[in-house]
Amino acid sequence: SRRRRLVIVANRVPNPRERGAAAGGLAVALQEALAGREALWFGWSGQCAEATPREPRIVRHGRMTYARLDLGEADYRRYYEGFANASLWPMLHYRLGIAQFDREDYAGYRLVNAAFAAALAPLLRPDDTVWVHDFHLFPFGAELRRRIGRGGADLRIGFFLHVPCPPPSVFGALPRSEELLADLTAYDVIGVQTEEDAGHLREALQRAGHDEAARRVGTWPAGIDAAGFAAMARRAAAGPEAERLRASLVGRSLVIGVDRLDYTKGLPHRFSGYGRLLAGFEGRHLGAVTYLQFAPVSREEVAQYRALRRELDELTGRINGQYADFDWVPLRYITRAVARPTLAGFMRIARVGLVTPLRDGMNLVAKEYVAAQDPGDPGVLVLSRFAGAAGQLEGALVVNPLDPDEIAEALDRALSMPAAERIARWRGMAQAVWTHDAAAWSRGFLAALEGGPAAAEQAA
Ligand code: G6P
Repeated sequence: SRRRRLVIVANRVPNPRERGAAAGGLAVALQEALAGREALWFGWSGQCAEATPREPRIVRHGRMTYARLDLGEADYRRYYEGFANASLWPMLHYRLGIAQFDREDYAGYRLVNAAFAAALAPLLRPDDTVWVHDFHLFPFGAELRRRIGRGGADLRIGFFLHVPCPPPSVFGALPRSEELLADLTAYDVIGVQTEEDAGHLREALQRAGHDEAARRVGTWPAGIDAAGFAAMARRAAAGPEAERLRASLVGRSLVIGVDRLDYTKGLPHRFSGYGRLLAGFEGRHLGAVTYLQFAPVSREEVAQYRALRRELDELTGRINGQYADFDWVPLRYITRAVARPTLAGFMRIARVGLVTPLRDGMNLVAKEYVAAQDPGDPGVLVLSRFAGAAGQLEGALVVNPLDPDEIAEALDRALSMPAAERIARWRGMAQAVWTHDAAAWSRGFLAALEGGPAAAEQAA
């Protein structure tokens, strides 16, 4: 049978001219879903203009079409920096204390969603499947249906929330959140990462009287291209950068962290935990371990992110000042963006992968660390219990990321773990990472979306 065209809508659209190395997790994951299928990828271009134009820029690339819209400066501020990243992002990560609300930002968020819908509508065919991604786009489906009217009766529109969904008491504290819940009723399928997220979202929808939408919520844990990432890591670990890193370690064990510089990632707690590792344990880790943290700067225009950067600069300086020796720097902290293959190779060299977000939808870095390991001599994953991935990666050393002593103890245990235990733990995790990969994730979601409401309820 002829397959419907797939339309992917996301705030970030990969730049077709920068394929491969620079592509982010979502972009890579979706390549698999698209295999051989005709697709249109629609969203923000990543660029600002004086005003938001009506029509997107269109680039064709094989069976894939990219349609990208610039955003006017004011729209970008209100929609992206404002409501999406200063209101929704903290609330969805259980951080009401730092969530801000501004009616004009909220209006801008709705306006941009409407502008996106208006720009996509003329490009749609009546039997397209539309898959909308993440918290930037709650109202998108409703705006699109409004635009298209009856002509869109056959259109299937699904939504996937990549970030956590907190309990209704937290969700409901954000002004206008009842409108966001009403927006969700426009989607045929609503996907989340974990059963916990699904429970929260169903409850919030039911309390608001949207029982039918609550039944369309299902769980599809996001995954990575495990085989592809493993191959990338193997190749890169034999390359010149990995060689330089190895030489620089002079036999010391490597602990690696890879995160966007974001306050949800638990970096200050993690740095403190590492400090306690060095301070305690009879001093046996002094001069014996190196912690390499990549934290590419992110959303710098938002005040909370600038404050976090200052805090981490200070913490790094303090830890290195206190514990370093003339021939050893305990913490190497890098805020530059680094190419994915380089990171993959470094993950393979690292004896410990340290992933301790305070809250995270899934956390694909945890899965990447597992995929990158050498099966004969794998490293140990230290993982936050508040990452969605903790439900799938039982072989990790699971920690409470708020407790620096617990992080230190897990690091101590990981660094001295015998090979047999490392291998046994890794095998279980690898099984999960390879089974719940990106292809399985998108296949599962799309089967529910294209197989009718019954399939969606089954998946739930
Ligand atoms: C998270 C969000 C994504 C977002 C990414 C990068 O993973 O779930 O939707 O694209 O962060 O953030 P940015 O603001 O740079 O797009």
